[in-house]
Amino acid sequence: MTDDSRFILDPATRDMHADNEHLRAAGPLVPVTAEGVPAWAATRYATLLAVLTHPDLSRELRHWAARQAMPPGTAIDRIVTDTSMLNAEGERHRRLRMPLTAAFSQRRLNGLRPRIEELTVRLIDRLAGMPPDEPVDLRLEFAYPLPREVISELIGIPAAHQEELHRLTDAVAQVGGLEDSPELRKELHGLLDQVIDERRDTPGEDLITDLFELHEKDGGRLSEEELFATIELLFIAGHVTTVNLITNAIGALLSEPDQLDLLRSGRCPYSAAVEETLRWDSPIAYFPMRYAVRDVEIDGVRVRGGEPVLACFASAGRDPDQYGEHAHRFDLTREQITHLAFGHGPHFCLGAPLARLEGEIALGALFAAFPGMKLTTPLEELPPLDTLLGNSTRAMPVLLGP
Ligand code: HEM
Repeated sequence: MTDDSRFILDPATRDMHADNEHLRAAGPLVPVTAEGVPAWAATRYATLLAVLTHPDLSRELRHWAARQAMPPGTAIDRIVTDTSMLNAEGERHRRLRMPLTAAFSQRRLNGLRPRIEELTVRLIDRLAGMPPDEPVDLRLEFAYPLPREVISELIGIPAAHQEELHRLTDAVAQVGGLEDSPELRKELHGLLDQVIDERRDTPGEDLITDLFELHEKDGGRLSEEELFATIELLFIAGHVTTVNLITNAIGALLSEPDQLDLLRSGRCPYSAAVEETLRWDSPIAYFPMRYAVRDVEIDGVRVRGGEPVLACFASAGRDPDQYGEHAHRFDLTREQITHLAFGHGPHFCLGAPLARLEGEIALGALFAAFPGMKLTTPLEELPPLDTLLGNSTRAMPVLLGP
């Protein structure tokens, strides 16, 4: 990675889908600079799949040779440095991930369904009380609060802290993501710290209590720091990604009335809208990186030991080599909607079934409640998030209609 004719990925100037088209045409792995960080971008579906499962590409930071040269304080810097399972491999990764598999089992999720439905109805009732002919930002008023409430309940954030949490996450909503605001991340850190301390004294039926019990029973299988990193990861990973999914699906469906009709008439299930949105407009754009443990060759490109490879999920979802010449079309009738939006291999998203369930419930209820809903601005004119990690619009303004 020595040449300096790198493609620059910059949230301020990007047109993400156009950039990705350019990168896919340029090769299987392309040298880029992402927020000042030099990396190889894996933009094609097949290459990304190879990267996600390659035994010599690791999520462990210690394998990143140029780490010291990285500009401090970037969003990437803040995310790669935590000690959660996301940045662990092998035995340590299994040890951190295993205790959570029960929390995300189908049985637990089935138990959560009625609660997600209840929270959705409450949000829709609030929307129904708003003037039907004035613009409403559905990102802020609907897509944002739902996953926040769900993840707070799952984790076990007590009611006494909800108001503080709402203030914090509403502020995060304004900047697009927690990774882009170190101050807000610090505040959330403080709040979670307090909640964890309280749960230690007053156990509940939630994930923090489960993790504590395991911690005590198994002689500290997770260190205090790991326990904290796990809870913080769940909060971050489980929130804004799902906000982007719901926002992107609303935008796609309101822009494609024929596709929306397929859902409303029952010819396609809402689960298809969730899957096609994940493929067509992946909630994650460029993230995370893996580091080459030794020199490796991927699709004919040599990556030297210590170099980082960046996963480009939104690009893989529109790769014509994988999805044919109509890859750019939002189409619920595709024979089989497969995608990499939740990753693949050992780090496959732990929350995928939860995100799918939330998306399905939220979209079904929203489109049933507001049959005359319209975008106030064409989707392509809505400004994107000001971050490389997330892929969505900053707002989703609609008229709810009669
Ligand atoms: C990992 C995407 C929702 C928790 C991942 C990865 C992706 C992803 C791509 C893999 C990263 C890698 O390969 O290195 C998404 C998307 C979501 C979503 C697009 C929403 C639409 C959630 C939710 C939760 C969650 C709701 C939890 C409540 C996690 C965790 C990991 C992860 C804990 C780390 C797994 C590991 O490293 O073993 N997610 N996610 N995610 N996700 Fe999600």
